[in-house]
Order: sequence, then C-alpha cells, then structure tokens
Amino acid sequence: MENSHEILLVALIATFAVIHLSRAEDQEGFISLDCGLPPSEASPYIEPDTGLWYSSDSGFIQSGKIGKIDASLPKTLKSYVTLRYFPDGIRNCYNLSVKQGTNYLMRVTALYGNYDALNITPKYDLYVGPNYWVTIDLENRISGQSEEIIYIPRSNSLDLCLVKTGTTTPMITSVELRPLANDLYITESGSLKSLKRYFLTSSDTILSYPNDVNDRIWEPKFDPEWTQISTTLEANNSNGFLVPRNVLKTAAIPANATARFNITEELDFPDDQIYLYLHFSEVQSLPISESREFDIFWNGQRQFDKTISPEYLKTTTIYSTTPVTCKGGVCNLELIRTTNSTLPPLLNAIELYAVVEFPQLETNENDVVAIRKIKAIYGLNRIAWQGDPCVPQKFLWDNLNCNSTDISTPPSITYLNLSSSGLEGTIAAEIQNLTHLEKLDLSNNNLTGDVPEFLANMKYLMLINLSKNNLIGFIPQALLDREKEGLQLFVDGEHRCLSGLCVTVTEKKIPVKTVAFVSSATVMAIIVVLVLIFLFKKKKSSNSEVLQPLPIKLGANVTSTNISEISIEVKKKKFTYSEVMEITKNLARPLGEGGFGVVYHGDINGSQQVAVKLLSESSTQGYKEFKAEVELLMRVHHVNLVSLVGYCDERGHLALVYEYMSNGDLKHHLSGKHDSSVLKWSTRLQIAMDAALGLEYLHIGCRPPMVHRDVKSTNILLDERFSAKLADFGLSRSVQLGGEYHVPTVVAGTPGYLDPE
Ligand SMILES: *[C@@H]1O[C@H](CO)[C@@H](O)[C@H](O)[C@H]1NC(C)=O
Ligand SMILES: *[C@@H]1O[C@H](CO)[C@@H](O)[C@H](O)[C@H]1NC(C)=O
Ligand SMILES: *[C@@H]1O[C@H](CO)[C@@H](O)[C@H](O)[C@H]1NC(C)=O
Ligand SMILES: *[C@@H]1O[C@H](CO)[C@@H](O)[C@H](O)[C@H]1NC(C)=O
Ligand SMILES: *[C@@H]1O[C@H](CO)[C@@H](O)[C@H](O)[C@H]1NC(C)=O
Ligand SMILES: *[C@@H]1O[C@H](CO)[C@@H](O)[C@H](O)[C@H]1NC(C)=O
Ligand SMILES: *[C@@H]1O[C@H](CO)[C@@H](O)[C@H](O)[C@H]1NC(C)=O
Ligand SMILES: *[C@@H]1O[C@H](CO)[C@@H](O)[C@H](O)[C@H]1NC(C)=O
Ligand SMILES: *[C@@H]1O[C@H](CO)[C@@H](O)[C@H](O)[C@H]1NC(C)=O
Ligand SMILES: *[C@@H]1O[C@H](CO)[C@@H](O)[C@H](O)[C@H]1NC(C)=O
Repeated sequence: MENSHEILLVALIATFAVIHLSRAEDQEGFISLDCGLPPSEASPYIEPDTGLWYSSDSGFIQSGKIGKIDASLPKTLKSYVTLRYFPDGIRNCYNLSVKQGTNYLMRVTALYGNYDALNITPKYDLYVGPNYWVTIDLENRISGQSEEIIYIPRSNSLDLCLVKTGTTTPMITSVELRPLANDLYITESGSLKSLKRYFLTSSDTILSYPNDVNDRIWEPKFDPEWTQISTTLEANNSNGFLVPRNVLKTAAIPANATARFNITEELDFPDDQIYLYLHFSEVQSLPISESREFDIFWNGQRQFDKTISPEYLKTTTIYSTTPVTCKGGVCNLELIRTTNSTLPPLLNAIELYAVVEFPQLETNENDVVAIRKIKAIYGLNRIAWQGDPCVPQKFLWDNLNCNSTDISTPPSITYLNLSSSGLEGTIAAEIQNLTHLEKLDLSNNNLTGDVPEFLANMKYLMLINLSKNNLIGFIPQALLDREKEGLQLFVDGEHRCLSGLCVTVTEKKIPVKTVAFVSSATVMAIIVVLVLIFLFKKKKSSNSEVLQPLPIKLGANVTSTNISEISIEVKKKKFTYSEVMEITKNLARPLGEGGFGVVYHGDINGSQQVAVKLLSESSTQGYKEFKAEVELLMRVHHVNLVSLVGYCDERGHLALVYEYMSNGDLKHHLSGKHDSSVLKWSTRLQIAMDAALGLEYLHIGCRPPMVHRDVKSTNILLDERFSAKLADFGLSRSVQLGGEYHVPTVVAGTPGYLDPE
C-alpha cells in the first residue's frame, strides 16, 4: 500500500462535472490556498470542479516564486495549475491563522507538472511547526502527492514549512485546512496521518466536498472476491463522523457467502502505529427471518468485544481507541459471520491512520509573537527568519539563540543580536516581551529616541549593547542600578554615566570625604562653586524674574505633548482638577510662591504628603515650562532631584504634584530668619554635595546632558533629614552635542545667579 494517496485527477474531474453553486457559509473555517496564484488574479474564486473557495497564498508566505504547470498536461483542477517554489533558503514557511485547540484536517498537495521545464521532480520534507511531518517525493508521481494530517494546533498560528533536504527545489500546489468536530479522530498521543480512506464500490467515483462536508477524500475500492450490494435510499449519517451519504449507499460482501470478509494492507513503514475506523450501514431491508451478524478481527485478534449487526440505513462507526502495530507491516482485517447469522458480513468504508508524534514543543508563544512583531517593525527581511524561531535547532533563526535543550518545555529566546542590521526608529517596546532574554545587542544601527526603562525590568538581561546609535535622553536610573548588580551596559560616548560615579549616586550615606575622593574633578568643581555660593550669597528678593525662557525641544519626529503624555501615563498619575482640590483641601495651606504659581501643601489619601504647584492662569509662558518640567521629571530619576508624583492637565488648570520636602528651600535656612538652629557645617557640606550630585546626574548621567539653568537656593529643597534635592526644572533644556539642536544663545535664569557675562 502506498503511504499516501495519489490523486486520480481524471476521476476527480469526472466526479465533479456537475456541482451546485456552494454557499460560502458551508465552508466556515475552511482554509483553501491556491499556491502561486498571483494576488492580482481574482481571489478568492470558486473551484469549478468542487465548489470550494480558493484564495491566493500570497498573504500567508513572504518567500518563494510563482510557477505554472506545463500547459500541455491533461486538464486538471484549477487550484492545481499554479504552484509556489522555493529556490532560496532552507526552510520556507506558511503562517496560517487557525483556532488553537481545534481539530483540523490539513491537506497539502504538490503537483510538479514540469513547471520549470527541467524534469527534475522535487523531494523535500514538510514540517508542522518545529516537527517533521512527512517527506514529499514526486518521483514517479505524475499526478502529484497529497498528504493529510489531523492536527490540533497549540496556538492561533500554525507554521507549515517546506524544508529543502537535497538539491531539488521544494514546491507546493495547495494547502487546505478543514475544521473537524473536536471529539472525532482522537489519539492517545500524537496526530493522525491519513494512510487510506476508501469506500467499497465498483464505481470509480472519488468523493469529497460537497459530498463530504469535511472535505475528506474517499477513494473507491473493489476486489474480485467481493460482491456489491447497494441502495438508492439515503442513510442517516449523523453519528458524528458525517460519512457522505453516497459512501453509505454501497457496501461489499464476500462473493463466497460462507467465506470471511478479508482485507489486507501493507504499510510503507512497518513500525507505524495504526488507528482503524470502520463505517457500516445496512443497505438491505432484511426480513425477520434474515440476520447479518459478524465479529471483527484485526491482525487475527477479535476486537471491540462486540458482535456487529449494522442497522438499516443508519451509520455505525467502529474505531480503535489505542493504536496497534501490524506484524511485518502487514495489517489484516477480517469480518467473520456468527454461526446463527443468515447473511455474510458487510462493510461500507474504511479509514486507516498512522500516528505521527510531534514531540518538540513550539517556542513560548509570547516570544514568537514578540519576535515576529520586532521583525515587522524593523522590516527585517531575512530568509531564515521563518517558522519557529528556536526549534528545530538546525533551523534556529540567525542572530538568535534559545534555551531549547529540553524538548518537553517550550523554548525561550535568550539571545538577540541585531547589531549592524540597519535598524531605524526607536527601541521596540516588544523587546520587553522577550522575557527570558539574557543578551541584547542592538549596536551599530540608526536607532533614535530614549533608552527605554523597561530594559531594567527584564530580569534575565546580563548584557545590553546599544552603542553606535543615535539614541538620546537619559539612561534610566533603574538601568544604572541594574548595572551596579552586574548587568553589562554598553552605550556610546564619553557623556554616559560612568559606572564608578553612578555607584556613589545612590549611596548617600557615604562620608563626604570618601565620596569626594572617588569623585571626578567635575564634581569637585561643582561642589566648590556651590559651597561658595551658599556661604557668601547675598540676600535677594524671593520673587525672581525670568528672562525669556525657552521651550524644551524634543526629538525631531515626535511632538512634546505626545511624548510626555504617553509616557507619563505609564508611571505617573494624572489627576483631575477636583482631585487636586481634594488633595490640597481646597488650597488650604500655601507653602510659598514660585516663578509660575503658588505651591500648596496636600496629602494623598491622608498618607503621602505632597506639594502641589498650581500654575497661575495669568502666566503666559507657563504652559511651555509646565510641559518642559513634566517632560524632564518624567525622564529623570535621582535621589537628588525632586520627584514627580503626578500632574493635572485639565483645560485651564495645570498642576504638578511633587514629593513633599518638609524643610522647605535652602534659601529659607540660609536667610537666618528660620526659628531653628543655624545649619551645621557638615549639613551645609552635605547639602552642597547632594545638589552637586543632582547636577552631576543632569550633566553626565543624562543623555543628552541637561542644563538646569536656574540653580539657586530657592530651588534646592530639603527633606526632613536635610537631604537636598533640586527642584524647578521649568527652564532646563537638553543639550545635544553636535546634533540637530542649535546651541541656545538666549539668556535664561534668575538675575543675581546668572553668570555676569
Ligand atoms: C502570522 O499569522 C498571525 C495570525 O494571523 C499574525 O498575527 C502574524 O502577524 C503572522 N506573522 C507573520 C510573520 O506574518
Ligand atoms: C438520525 O439518527 C439520530 C440518532 O442516531 C437521530 O437523533 C436523528 O433524528 C436521525 N435523523 C433522521 C433524519 O432520522
Ligand atoms: C467458499 O468458502 C468456503 C469456506 O471458506 C469454502 O469451503 C468453499 O470452498 C468456498 N466456495 C467457493 C465456491 O470458493
Ligand atoms: C484472508 O486472510 C488470510 C490471512 O489471515 C489469508 O491467508 C487469506 O488468503 C485471505 N483470504 C483472502 C480471500 O484474501
Ligand atoms: C445468535 O446466537 C447468540 C447465541 O449464540 C444469541 O445471543 C444472539 O441473539 C443470536 N442472534 C440472533 C440474531 O438470533
Ligand atoms: C528556558 O528558560 C525559561 C526560564 O528560564 C524556562 O521557563 C524554560 O522552561 C526554559 N526552557 C527550556 C527548554 O529549558
Ligand atoms: C553580535 O554580532 C556581531 C557580528 O555579527 C558580533 O561582532 C558581536 O559580538 C555580537 N554581539 C554579541 C553580544 O555577541
Ligand atoms: C506583551 O505581551 C502581552 C501579553 O501577551 C501583550 O498584552 C502586550 O501587548 C505585549 N506587549 C507588547 C509591547 O507587545
Ligand atoms: C558593542 O557594539 C559595538 C559596535 O558594534 C562594538 O564595537 C563593541 O565591541 C560591542 N561591545 C560588546 C561588549 O559586544
Ligand atoms: C544610518 O542612516 C544613514 C542614512 O539614513 C546611513 O547612511 C548610515 O549608514 C546608517 N547607519 C547605520 C549604522 O546603519
């Protein structure tokens, strides 16, 4: 027996000469791809011989070329005329959209038809996802090869892959998927590959759709030792299997009424594990005096513990629930009439399936979705990036690696190297869904935008190379913290935060001397300047004036509102104006007045104390500074910079909600008006140190560097332990080194604090 049915094309055409117009809803869930049909041609179309709707395969595969069988060949099905062949790449895959957990009958047909005029029949392997299914070998198969499998996809997408195994070029003619009822064709394990499906009739008619609503193909078979019996009446086929009624109209009985009914099948692969399905329906109306009873013997053993007596015009299906191997690859079915049966046994149809194990689990579905999105976002057109990214290991996508040693757990992507891949745009958020990633190399591309904070949340990451890109912005503090824990982070430029300095940033309790010792000359210089300022500063009016502040400029292709709003909503809370009123108890306790409005005390849920800066409505420049400040505070995270708890942006009402600094601003303490004791020398030094670290972070830790532009004692706030934090970033702006930002020449700041030049 052949392990696959060769299609009798001529017979098929004869059968379907008359087809009623089919209704599309009868084919719900069907996937019928006519491979190689140019998308420009009418698609979908109705196959004239079957009434099935076929569409072009071009939306389901990115590779391959289109061919057409030799026109001089005898007429065949329309869907068999064109084909797709794959001269490039080892593995080429169709990506089919299926329903997870649904039982599908999947049929793949390849008809060579000398499309390339080379007369070299292809031989290649077919894979379902990461698992080998079957070899297509068209040698001596002039009318093509059709393979079927009953398969339950483990996710909503199914990869069907053609794998080149020798020198010939894989090609494919059609791909068909038919959903089946989920309780049919059940196996203990694995999937069912169709070996034989025939019905016993002396005609040469092949039946499929629309005779079979599931589009199974039933071939005719008849032996000289049999006699056909038949009926013209329609049988009741509603036992789940929905065997076509035309199949149930004919049956075979042994010609010698006393002999056994005997069918022998020889397997191509003797070790195949076989499932057997038998369909019976009595076609003769038996008088009371007659009976037809028989037992089923499968490979010489009585099966199913049951004597069969088929009902008149009603289907009985008997099938194995456990697979068997046939000794020597020869399977034998015998139907033996019981002693008191007056009539010989009868059989209408038989199906044989072999178990195909698909042991290799697909890659973690989240990883697959993410890497496919990444592939699409960056337009990576790599021939090897098809099918499952990780498995089988020999087809691992290039520049990727996975932990795929154990086939019984889904592999995950652990390494992604897109170095020098011409990537453009920002670092894709989808990368965070590669949750098991250990090494990420995006170096030497044209990536723009921020270093995203999510990288810090990818717990297995050990190495990130982002160098040689056009990234801007700050390296998120959380990522710098990870670096401290051993993450290797490679970013461009002398201006990124050097790891030695970053370490000191969070370790506030280190004695000043030690910190100063390890710090760079830059920090020392800043400290000295600050100390001098704070010690010898003259008293100044508290209501400082602002000279021409500049709006902050953002990356070329994003508007400032977009960037801030999207990102703010991720981490910071957006308050409504009424919530702001609730927090501040209707603006009950003003704390002071800043450049753009009054600051009020408030608390959130009675626990977290906050300071709320309300932008006064009269402030004309205010909205730009407001945006600048939100934008900046959103990106910077540092112990010496006042952090933003939330903001309010309602028509006409702008408010910023900060953490509360209970000891107010430094100016207040330096003024001598404060009731409590004068600041101690060590506290002053610590405050200078803190402020310097905040500035150092803005200048060195951020990319592009930030200039505060309004450093003064009123903008240095003190918490309950007199730790200092910089506030009021409304005038700050980023400085792009040698980039598209022009150097600002407009003066901004507070008179008295400005460099006289
Ligand atoms: C594969 O098909 C799924 C489902 O239709 C789709 O979401 C996904 O984008 C496709 N992938 C590719 C690489 O075409
Ligand atoms: C077919 O048989 C089933 C039971 O097996 C029954 O429920 C159904 O009514 C029958 N249909 C017809 C048309 O007789
Ligand atoms: C019919 O089968 C029986 C039992 O197998 C056998 O004895 C008999 O010779 C057969 N008759 C013919 C005509 O072959
Ligand atoms: C029936 O099967 C037996 C093997 O079990 C074989 O010896 C015999 O020749 C077969 N008879 C027919 C009619 O095929
Ligand atoms: C045939 O005989 C068995 C007992 O040998 C009996 O159980 C069965 O009912 C009989 N069948 C018919 C149709 O009479
Ligand atoms: C890969 O690693 C992840 C997490 O470490 C684990 O859940 C998964 O089971 C691993 N897969 C294999 C095949 O080892
Ligand atoms: C990424 O690939 C490039 C060359 O393709 C190689 O030089 C580099 O070392 C790789 N990166 C990592 C992290 O392995
Ligand atoms: C990450 O995966 C989750 C769950 O699968 C999904 O909801 C989310 O949209 C994905 N995120 C991105 C950025 O693709
Ligand atoms: C990071 O990438 C750059 C540019 O491709 C390369 O020169 C450098 O060696 C890489 N660093 C590491 C540690 O892979
Ligand atoms: C970045 O893009 C420019 C032009 O768009 C191109 O010349 C350059 O080679 C690209 N750089 C990299 C590393 O891909």
